[in-house]
Amino acid sequence: MKKGYFSKKIIDWYRDHHRELPWRNTQDPYKIWLSEIILQQTRVAQGLPYFEKFIKNYPTVKSLALADEREVLRLWQGLGYYTRARNLLACARKVVAEQDGKFPPTWLELRQLPGIGDYTAAAIASFAFHQRVAVVDGNVYRVLARLFGIDTDIASPEGKTLFSALANQLISDDQPGLHNQAIMEFGALHCVPVNPNCEECIFKRNCIAYQHELQHLLPVKLKKQRITHRYFYYFLFRSGDKILMTARLEKDIWKGLYDFPLLEEKRAIATEKVVARIYPAKDLDFVFSEEYKHVLSHQVIHARFIEARKKKANKLVLQHFSRNGNTWYSIRAIEKLPKPRLILRYLEDKGIL
Ligand code: ADE
Repeated sequence: MKKGYFSKKIIDWYRDHHRELPWRNTQDPYKIWLSEIILQQTRVAQGLPYFEKFIKNYPTVKSLALADEREVLRLWQGLGYYTRARNLLACARKVVAEQDGKFPPTWLELRQLPGIGDYTAAAIASFAFHQRVAVVDGNVYRVLARLFGIDTDIASPEGKTLFSALANQLISDDQPGLHNQAIMEFGALHCVPVNPNCEECIFKRNCIAYQHELQHLLPVKLKKQRITHRYFYYFLFRSGDKILMTARLEKDIWKGLYDFPLLEEKRAIATEKVVARIYPAKDLDFVFSEEYKHVLSHQVIHARFIEARKKKANKLVLQHFSRNGNTWYSIRAIEKLPKPRLILRYLEDKGIL
């Protein structure tokens, strides 16, 4: 699709369909900045009264810079994520102290200010200063992914680079601010996430998603897998040249590999507590290794290896694990057993293997 074609169509659509909002039809970077910070936190309908309140109390960036932090936090109340409110004040103060109350006109300078990220810098630079720099928000990802049939994950670094490059190719040369407003508004009102009205769309004949019925699949946003931290307390039991090993049979990491009798916790716990989990004795004497950290793709294992100093302790603790189907293996047999790297590391560090 030709760049001029896209831009003309979307700006024409915007002229007919956009919502009248107080931060539109203004070139005042202060109002634009303030509205964008608020709209990062909430939807338009909920953000409007906050915007009005802020403008009424602080009509200029200079008046905001003089505000008391508590007063700003009070006005922000209900929006949540109070770091944004603190950054709002820090940004206003910086603009006043260093730029005589004038927001800088370029994306790069705006980007350096507190609380201003890639998107907000592009919004201010284009809406207030007519800079040719594309905004890329959730609406823009959706419109472009569907129109061009792009299934690259929008949460990935490659996705960010790809969509940003495309948006910057398409942006109008002479009306970049209007173009940016238009694509976002089109995403917010027409090319909506669920059940978009594709039959009555200006891009019906161009849209790859529509042609292939992929609207509901685009854009692709893969969920970030959360990293889980697991705390492993391994007990080392020796008898002669034998060590007690456990086959891991559960549906979990290392299925089919051998490790030691294990106490697992969701958090790191104090050494006394580890022992108390197993046997309520004070005089049992245990030696704990340093923590061994083992990083897997979505888990971090924090392991400590524990040995009883006294035979009696060893016996009592062993009873706790006796029902788990452990087996004594000689060092030579252990060498041959399949083991997680973490276990091998420990055995080698101890000079056992
Ligand atoms: N969401 C983020 N920025 C916006 C804007 N300028 N107008 C409407 N909705 C928005």
